[in-house]
Amino acid sequence: VDPYDSDQILNLVSQERLNLRAVMNTHEHADHWMGNEGIADQINCDFWAHPNAISKIAKSKLALRNGDKISLGKDFIQVLDTPGHTLSHVSLLGIQSGQANFVLTGDTIFNAGVGNCKKGGDPEILYNTVCNIFGNLPDSVKLYPGHDYMETNLKFALSILPENSFARTLLEEIQTLVGKKQSKVTDFGLERKINPFFQLDHHTLHKNLESKHSGFDSNLITLKTEREIFLALRRLRDLW
Ligand SMILES: [Fe+2]
Repeated sequence: VDPYDSDQILNLVSQERLNLRAVMNTHEHADHWMGNEGIADQINCDFWAHPNAISKIAKSKLALRNGDKISLGKDFIQVLDTPGHTLSHVSLLGIQSGQANFVLTGDTIFNAGVGNCKKGGDPEILYNTVCNIFGNLPDSVKLYPGHDYMETNLKFALSILPENSFARTLLEEIQTLVGKKQSKVTDFGLERKINPFFQLDHHTLHKNLESKHSGFDSNLITLKTEREIFLALRRLRDLW
């Protein structure tokens, strides 16, 4: 999924003696498919993407549609249509033994944050996706985003909600991993404690956000709905 460096993928396929049959790209931004051509030069496999992104992604031919299930033996991957970061973005939900186990989110959701909407996205659509699709996933589902922005996102979360002890403890933990080539995997239970975009009903976050926001936009001093809070958070993160 989302090959960046084809040599890295081809070396792994060779070392592990894997039979690479399909490459899936979550969306049309080049850093999520620039390895496609190098893989296609060496291996005859299928390339899958959102139907509206296929024409923008090298080698991509087959459509990943919402609800499609890709069999992996007894288990499968379910395709989720997750627009917002771009309007042609899929996420891939891994189902093992009948239970949702993990999700690959591309640039839709990151650890302690969500994707920006600066290159072809729409924050209102992202709000619907985050609330209606990811808001319903069980706490135990592990999150695998397309980039590791956890440290920066936790610092932003703490700038809005300094008393969040879960975010502070996690920030200290991941700072010990820097330089060790290790990364921390979170699940949605933890994300609901550290990710401000999942805490739209948090009273203190709401009040702190209003006071920060009023500093640069007098039209948005009062945030009435969770949608407005989400949009204000996304805007503040863009400027942070
Ligand atoms: Fe992207």
